[in-house]
Amino acid sequence: MKAINITFTFQDGQPDQTHVAAEGESVLDVALNNDIQLQHNCGGVCGCSTCHVYIEQGEADLPEISDAEEDFIDRAENPRINSRLACQCVVQGSTDLVVRIPPQHFLGH
Ligand code: FES
Repeated sequence: MKAINITFTFQDGQPDQTHVAAEGESVLDVALNNDIQLQHNCGGVCGCSTCHVYIEQGEADLPEISDAEEDFIDRAENPRINSRLACQCVVQGSTDLVVRIPPQHFLGH
């Protein structure tokens, strides 16, 4: 498999970051491994909506969205047609991704 690059863009004005993803890693894994702040309250098991991101490019190569993921996206802030949960976006295929991280609100514990 060719190396997949994930470019993260941010709505808070910080510069874009591009990182290499290994097969089997999720977008959440790659973000956290590179110190990108992305909430993940349920620990990455499709049990919350805090890892909500927008897939700006490359969504055709991601796993299909499940009913559970869709339900949680409906509860996310500002869901859009390209919304996904980062923990469910496991890298596969060969298409580089562009992922927009929404503003992160850290509300304490
Ligand atoms: S971390 Fe909870 S759904 Fe992704």
